[in-house]
Amino acid sequence: MNIVSALEQPMAADRHTYSITGGVPLEGSVTASGAKNAVTKQLVAGLLTDQPCVLHGVPRILEVDLVLGMLAELGTQVTWLGEHSVQVHTPEVRETSLSAMYSGVNRIPILMMGPLLHRRGETIVPLPGGCTIGKRPIDFHLEGLRQMGADIAEHPTSVKVHVDDRLTGAHIDLPFPSVGATENLLLAAVRASGTTVISNAAVEPEIVDLILMLQKMGALITINTDRTIMVEGVRELRGVEHTTIADRIEIASFAAAAIATDGCIEVRGARQEHLVTYLNTLRHIGGDFAETKDGLAFWRARSLTATDVETGVHPGFMTDWQQPLTVLLTQASGTSVVHETIYEDRFGYTEQLRAMGASVDLTTRCLGAVACRFHGRDFQHTAKISGTRRLLGADLVIPDLRAGFGYVLAALVADGTSTISGTRYLERGYEQPVAKLAAVGARITTRPV
Ligand code: EPZ
Repeated sequence: MNIVSALEQPMAADRHTYSITGGVPLEGSVTASGAKNAVTKQLVAGLLTDQPCVLHGVPRILEVDLVLGMLAELGTQVTWLGEHSVQVHTPEVRETSLSAMYSGVNRIPILMMGPLLHRRGETIVPLPGGCTIGKRPIDFHLEGLRQMGADIAEHPTSVKVHVDDRLTGAHIDLPFPSVGATENLLLAAVRASGTTVISNAAVEPEIVDLILMLQKMGALITINTDRTIMVEGVRELRGVEHTTIADRIEIASFAAAAIATDGCIEVRGARQEHLVTYLNTLRHIGGDFAETKDGLAFWRARSLTATDVETGVHPGFMTDWQQPLTVLLTQASGTSVVHETIYEDRFGYTEQLRAMGASVDLTTRCLGAVACRFHGRDFQHTAKISGTRRLLGADLVIPDLRAGFGYVLAALVADGTSTISGTRYLERGYEQPVAKLAAVGARITTRPV
């Protein structure tokens, strides 16, 4: 989809539904795409300079088209140099504000505040809004920017930000290691006057990859072992050429598919260092992996058994790995516990799994090793999964991106045929999911809507 058509129908409708017949072991190789959650922020980082920035490994997904559309609205010249390489060049920021149609679309506009304050001193950006997985406020972002001298006025669907001269370095102690807030403050701090210290920062591989790109652009950033990030502000940044890391969520999704279907999938581009916690969990369940020439291969080593998992900030078990894992655990004997500590409402998708025959009970209790932020509150954030359960094919409606691959996986292990709608959510973050699944032998077809 090109930028224009993505903008004409940002999230309007599915292009097609999927039909998946389960029970086939998936075998073969797929290539991991670039990480959505790295590249979208790196495109924003391009706004920090008036020189061209080239990114390689850019996945051709709707989310990328949306971000490029936003940038084009601000004055960025967007040039595709190859299938997965794009140049963004903003010699001049023509517009300081993004149009309201981006309100509630995604979380990228709020990351543009810092770069736009540096380029033009003011901006109005649309707010992301909540979504099916939780409220997702942006208070940490705004408080941090205020500490750096930004004058912020909040409106129902947008936020207006202004700075008199330059943003100024500050010591910001994040109440929680938020990925987005850390990225937002990094993008604000690199060209601020003085030094910014972000303590309790998130250090996900996607954030480190953003830091690597910024460092190539001339930024001075130090990551300490205690999750403190120190940024010494510089006046100007220069253009850059950078290759985005592979998508560790997509890799984990295909790994789960290999193990759940009792097949073997090599994911080219997968890197062990980005998956350490996930690989341990796969081993606990009965999966295994090996390094190949081009990536990692995943398979089932023995019959699957239950395990307990708590999602957490890096280097913990990612919340975005939780959905394929939960489906995988329906195929493991015994009772597993998955304690979700990042989002308060990320198990809604399990209702449709229960309809397929899965045994997934939700509770508001913290059944993990530690009480999390949701302790004593009315959030069903722990799942007890009992297996092994045979799943039956069903008509599934995807509620959000990561639940989407969970449903694909459920359909792959289920008896009979499932139809899946809401595929626009899945395709927002996974590049060519149908072609990749078909390449490893999935019986998947699409029907236009
Ligand atoms: C990023 O979201 C990812 N999104 C998410 O992936 C991912 O699940 C999440 O990080 C955690 O790894 C993108 O990168 C675009 P957070 P983000 O700020 O940055 C609370 C996907 O499917 N919080 O780390 O929004 C918040 O409510 C998506 O690709 C505040 O309370 O996540 C949540 O409970 C889904 N106030 C927790 O912190 C704030 O100001 C973690 O959120 C900010 C966050």
